Amino acid sequence: MIDFRSDTFTKPTPAMLEKMFNAEVGDDVFKEDPTVNKLQTMLAEMFGMEAGLFCASGTMSNQVAIKTHTQPGDEVICDKLSHVYIYEGGGIAFNSGCQVKPLEGNRGRITAQQVAGAINPNDIHKAQSTLVSLENTANRGGGSCYEMSDIQQIKEVCLENSLKLHLDGARLFNAIVAKDEDPKEYGNLFDSISICLSKGLGAPVGSVLLGKEDFINKALRVRKVFGGGMRQAGYLAAAGIYALENNVNRLALDHRHAQQIVAALKEKEFTGDMYPVETNIIIFEVKGKYSAKSLAEKFKENEILVMAISPTQIRMVLHLDVTEEMVKETISVIAGL
Ligand SMILES: Cc1ncc(COP(=O)(O)O)c(C=O)c1O
Repeated sequence: MIDFRSDTFTKPTPAMLEKMFNAEVGDDVFKEDPTVNKLQTMLAEMFGMEAGLFCASGTMSNQVAIKTHTQPGDEVICDKLSHVYIYEGGGIAFNSGCQVKPLEGNRGRITAQQVAGAINPNDIHKAQSTLVSLENTANRGGGSCYEMSDIQQIKEVCLENSLKLHLDGARLFNAIVAKDEDPKEYGNLFDSISICLSKGLGAPVGSVLLGKEDFINKALRVRKVFGGGMRQAGYLAAAGIYALENNVNRLALDHRHAQQIVAALKEKEFTGDMYPVETNIIIFEVKGKYSAKSLAEKFKENEILVMAISPTQIRMVLHLDVTEEMVKETISVIAGL
């Protein structure tokens, strides 16, 4: 099977497993796991931020960040397609007791003007706006990337209104590679960043939350309350270190593979509107003889897995377990559909 359902389906390679197997570990709740400490420091330094916190998942690091930034009754501003809003089980309400002001963005991205317009006035009838959460790349926006200048403008609005700025960077390295950016630019602008190691980077588990030292100290307490204090977590952190050392630059290959598949899809009658493909995610409308479901079934008959994300939309995600030969095979299958 060639699996395009998600970049979360990647499996650790033998080299990654060896690094995990040989990891030096300790009790991370006592901050004595050298490999976890190394991963946290490595990412914090890469982004020019003060500290990092290893979390079990991207959902956990986003939710820990939101809980740490807010008080119950606050309002969080984000795009209406944000993972933190639509795919984290209502976690913002459940964990933080906050409400969300979802904005109608452009493929998962919002503007400074929209943020400025969404901030509640200082009025006791209104929830207090305290946090803006962005997502880069934006998953439901088809892996779309923010322009750095747009983030800078959002940051200015946040500073003028004393709002914190969080980044769900589940696929931030895809944006960094696609746009040839310096991670420190992100570190400069955000109060917190969640980085996933278990998407295109290929680690089996783990995310790291980055921020200032005092923020991370508070987040550490929240992570503990959420049940996320792990013990010899260095075995997992070792996979993250391996991923950062070996799998960042190769994301460009996934982006090239995505473009090759896009070209094949665009030859077909059944391909309707497609989001511009900027990174490793392809989302397109299905028209004519197939529904999204029946096209996904056709792919499956040819040993290719894709995801029908709505009755009319298919998503295909490129990642490290999809080789050049698999892309060629997929292109020839598409030609015959
Ligand atoms: C944009 C985004 N944020 C956060 C997450 C959550 O990551 P996890 O599945 O590790 O909880 C995902 C997962 O797919 C995601 O796509």
